[in-house]
Amino acid sequence: MRVPPPSVTRSLELIGNTPVVRLQHVVPRHCAQIFLKIESTNPTGSYKDRMAKSMIEEAERRGDLKPGTTIVEATGGSTGSSLAFLCAVKGYRFHVVSSNAFAAEKLRTMAAFGANLDLIHSPSGKITPTLIPSMIRRAKEVSTSDGYYFTNQFENHDALVGYETIGHELVQQVPEIDAFCGAVGTAGMVMGVARVLKAKRPETHISVLEPASSPTITQGRPGTHHVEGIGIGIIPPLLDRQLYDEALAISENEGRSMCRRLAREEGLLVGTSTGLNVVAAIELARKLGSGKTVVTVAADTGLKYLRGNLFADQ
Ligand SMILES: Cc1ncc(COP(=O)(O)O)c(C=O)c1O
Repeated sequence: MRVPPPSVTRSLELIGNTPVVRLQHVVPRHCAQIFLKIESTNPTGSYKDRMAKSMIEEAERRGDLKPGTTIVEATGGSTGSSLAFLCAVKGYRFHVVSSNAFAAEKLRTMAAFGANLDLIHSPSGKITPTLIPSMIRRAKEVSTSDGYYFTNQFENHDALVGYETIGHELVQQVPEIDAFCGAVGTAGMVMGVARVLKAKRPETHISVLEPASSPTITQGRPGTHHVEGIGIGIIPPLLDRQLYDEALAISENEGRSMCRRLAREEGLLVGTSTGLNVVAAIELARKLGSGKTVVTVAADTGLKYLRGNLFADQ
């Protein structure tokens, strides 16, 4: 009898098809139910794998990206980890502009995949209003040389192609979504998902979130904060006013304490921005009341923040 060959999955096929869990213990009574899409099961542990894949494959499809090209990006490290993974699989070199303000785990992940790290020093170790703009300037400068391709995640609409896949999966996984929320950095994730959810059900309420310590979208006042991946100090160019209903500023401290509750009460180890996502989802669930459904995402895993004080603070 012939033994069937083992089914082999290529590493890029590990991206997507992430599970959804219903929060059980952190949601107060008489609220809408809340579902969390667990994006940490992507290969580098965040939803950024989806956009790294679409930014590279859309550019390849157009012929903008040729073998031998060096990819350049300015990133806090989640996009960088995902691009470093894609580059390792596809054989591109990767020049990444980042900073000591971001988790050492992410910087080391990029290096492990073979990226060339170019770090801008933040004296306070925090994300100041000028840090990300200066990282972007540096990445633009590097990419003017021949043989470089700047993926430019803050303006690249190819990212939305990757993020729409979260929306398509959600409409299969959760039958009727009344509200969806997510914290924004580039805004790519919420915009990609909103495109799909609003096309299916135009009344789906979409909330974009930012740290209350840097209320740029809600009040035009960028500030210093410590939530990696979000609050970039400018209105993100990909943010489309037609695709969201409200912007909410969420307390960093409430977000961080929610991360600790999610670990202890739900067994979900998630990163800081996810804590803010769940705080906002509970706010929406309170307003909507029982019988309704709110969805948000676990952008990444708490494993990326174990060296910091996210789980050490009480
Ligand atoms: C951990 C984390 N959460 C949230 C975001 C925000 O996602 P987006 O850039 O799609 O708005 C990012 C982006 O880098 C991130 O790294």
